[in-house]
Amino acid sequence: MNLTIIVPTYNEAPNVAELVRRISRTVDAADTEILFVDDSTDATPETIREVAASASLPVRLIHREHATGGLGGAVVEGLRAAASDVCVVMDGDLQHPPEEIPLLVHRFRRGDVDLVVASRYAGEGTADGLADRGRVLVSRASTAVTKAMFPIRLKDVSDPMTGFFLVDRTAIDLDGLKPRGFKILLEILARKPLRVAEVPFRFADRHAGESKASFQQGLHFLMQLTMLRFGKMSLFAFIGILGAVANLAILWVLIHMGVGSVWAAIIAAEVTIIGNFLLQERFVFQDMREDASGVWSRFAKSFGFNNVEAAIRIPIMAAMVAGWHISAVIATAITLVVAFVVRFLFHSLVVYAP
Ligand code: GDD
Ligand code: MN
Repeated sequence: MNLTIIVPTYNEAPNVAELVRRISRTVDAADTEILFVDDSTDATPETIREVAASASLPVRLIHREHATGGLGGAVVEGLRAAASDVCVVMDGDLQHPPEEIPLLVHRFRRGDVDLVVASRYAGEGTADGLADRGRVLVSRASTAVTKAMFPIRLKDVSDPMTGFFLVDRTAIDLDGLKPRGFKILLEILARKPLRVAEVPFRFADRHAGESKASFQQGLHFLMQLTMLRFGKMSLFAFIGILGAVANLAILWVLIHMGVGSVWAAIIAAEVTIIGNFLLQERFVFQDMREDASGVWSRFAKSFGFNNVEAAIRIPIMAAMVAGWHISAVIATAITLVVAFVVRFLFHSLVVYAP
């Protein structure tokens, strides 16, 4: 096997036959396999099995009952299971024309790169198939932001968010990837320096069915960017800042509703502590949850820590003002910074300890 074509699918039943037909007309059936990694809730797996039975090249299916990592997780699973080290990743809805595969392979066979990006934004490429003007704008803007955040790694990549690329599996560290959501290529490019080439392609219209892109995917993407660029600690800090703002807003609302200020402060603090815990579970430590203690135990530790911290920070601050003769603002700032670092360490080492 010289080439594995990995196709992540989520409810793409009406597209499977046409995709396999067009791929088999284009590639060398003797040394190519198609590998579907499917998380569908509809009849897609049955359709794939039917199509596989009469296809002129090997068609394999991994159906995941307990899918993790969404589209990106499916691609990584495909990369692990591929029969060939050289893998093409493409969508299952024919927005990525199979006829372009030989161009990717051809570029790769020149032997000087690890990865070939099929780009909508290079040369003759177009993003016509993006459903509406809104999505074109979002795509352009997020591409620009992403390139600005990784000026060196993405220097030669005009389309880091494309879902169509060829990669030499041996050049990447599969275990180091933290796939979540749609942007698996960005994940691969950001983690490790690779030799990259691009070929332009025209992003076509969907053959059938609907896009699975969503607002939630957008949120995943922002979290992924923060994480890739600045690591866990920065995302932890970002969520902490969100929490501080939420704390003030809740306090303000409660006081305006006539709640006494002490009660208002306590309620606002507790709501924020719980909200922060939920966000950290979901976005910061999601990859450590499985090996850690149960969710209620994690919650108890996190909740306990934050309450103790809130309760002792103020007397410590007062002691600093009295003992070191510094202003209350500076003392508060110091306690907040120290508390942040301690809180992060406590969560990494205790709450989410394996
Ligand atoms: N296995 C699996 N699991 N596949 C999924 C999942 C999932 O959770 N979510 C989506 N897919 C599959 C779809 O079935 C399809 O084959 C492919 O991933 C792309 O999904 P679409 O729903 O067609 O996404 P899109 O067209 O909006 O987005 C595409 O273009 C973007 C660029 O604008 C994707 O290629 C994105 O990766 C790309 O960034
Ligand atoms: Mn699509």
